Parts: sequence; C-alpha cells; structure tokens
Amino acid sequence: MNIGIFDSGFGGLTILKAISKLLPHYSYIYLGDNARSPYGDRSADRIYEFTRQGVEFLFKKDCKLVILACNTASALALRKLQQEWLIKNYPDRRILGIIIPVVEALAPIQTKKQKRVGVIGTRATILSNAYKKESEKRGGALHELIQQACPLLVPLIEEGWHKTPPAAMIIKKYIRPLKLKQVNVLVLGCTHYPLIKEKIQSVIGKNVRLIDPGSVVAHSLKSYLSRHAEIESALTKNSHLAFFTTDASERVASLASRFWGSHISFELAKVE
Ligand code: DGL
Repeated sequence: MNIGIFDSGFGGLTILKAISKLLPHYSYIYLGDNARSPYGDRSADRIYEFTRQGVEFLFKKDCKLVILACNTASALALRKLQQEWLIKNYPDRRILGIIIPVVEALAPIQTKKQKRVGVIGTRATILSNAYKKESEKRGGALHELIQQACPLLVPLIEEGWHKTPPAAMIIKKYIRPLKLKQVNVLVLGCTHYPLIKEKIQSVIGKNVRLIDPGSVVAHSLKSYLSRHAEIESALTKNSHLAFFTTDASERVASLASRFWGSHISFELAKVE
C-alpha cells in the first residue's frame, strides 16, 4: 500500500520532497487539487469537503496513510476527518496533518531560551487558531504565540512575482510586526513560504530561527512509522512516486516543476 500526500495545489510538493528524501523506500502518491486551489481564503466547510474528497481519492488509490501536506487543510479539516469521517468510512486507514508535528517539535525549544513564536500562514489557517489550539492541547506548549495572516504571498509566489520590489514591500509589511514583537522563532505555516525563505529571513533578521515544516514532518512521520508497525508493515517498499492533479494545465506543470525542482508528469484525477 502507498503513502498519500494531499495538498490544495503545489505547496505539498515541498513536504513530499522532504519526506521522500528521508524515507525514500516507500511508495508515494501525490494529489494536488489545482482545479480548486488556493484554499487559503475559502470557508471551513469548503476546505473540509474538498479535503475529504482528495483523501478519499487517495484511499481509493490504495493509500494506507494520507498526509495533509497543506497547513490550511490540516487546520480546517484534519480533526473532523479523523474524528467523524475516518472512523465511519475507513477505520483501518490513517490521516495525519502537518501542524501537530511542528507544535510538538517546538515544545522543547520553548522550554529553553527561545520563547516568542511567530506563525505566518494563509488567512484560513490563522483565523482557525489551529496552532494555538494544538498548543493548548499540549499544556500550552507554545505560550507566547504571535500569528500573522499573509494572504497576498501565495498569489505573488504563484505569479512568479516574489523577487520583485512590490513583493519585497509586501513581505516587509507582513513580517515587520513580528520583528517588532521580537519573535525568536518563526514558523513558515504555509507550504508556499519555503520558496521565499531567504527574503523572510532577511526581513526578520538572521537571529530568528525559521521553521520549515518539510523536514519536521518527515522526521515525525519516520517516528510515527517506527511506533506503528501495523501501518508500516502494510506499506509497499518500491521507491515509487506518482503525481495526480485535478487540473493538468500548462501552468500547473510549469509551477509544479518550480516547487519540485524538476519536471513532473501528472495524471489527471477526478475527485468528487
Ligand atoms: N497549501 C496551502 C497551505 O499550506 C497554501 C495554498 C492555498 O491557500 O491553498 O496553507
């Protein structure tokens, strides 16, 4: 059986890249819902429904486990999928998100000197308060949390405008308030932001530690599989990668290669 990686579009490729680098022997199926992305300004109900359909597609492709490699889907859909839908429909499968691993990875940092944590993400992710809620479930692991929605960053990155002067101005506008609040750690809480990591670092300052969820999620998956032999033993070990999208246009192909680093051949997915 396969490991499914779901994202609203391209961003999850940054997560798959980190996972498949650390755990290359498994078989991965990626699904990007490009026909309906971005999710970041959509309502909770839409995000839930689209994510559920994407996960179901991946389960039908024989995925034992699906990772929501999208902060927005993890924030708005994961809990409900796990608690209501999965139990009724696929009790022997698993769905994991990318927010909990980051909160868990940050908890030990918080007990040390680095205390003030900033999170940037889409409007839906920040409004959902998912980082705060997951922190509270872990005894307030992140006690000083400062959040900032950055809704213009996804379109800027997708348009390839992120190196232009207007983009520099917008990045400053979003990041400076976090700098003024003297955050010590900044979570890139959207799968697109690793592409502008250097720009963000230059505004926030080199002493602030940036958390890129890719490697955190990869290590957390490795640890999860070592603790769940019943899942791990069901996984195929043939180093296979397959890519699906709900909208296989020229634009999708060229943007995907920017996120992945080389050309990707997509198959068209019908989700409903
Ligand atoms: N993948 C989304 C996230 O990580 C960003 C793109 C979108 O808004 O759909 O939040």
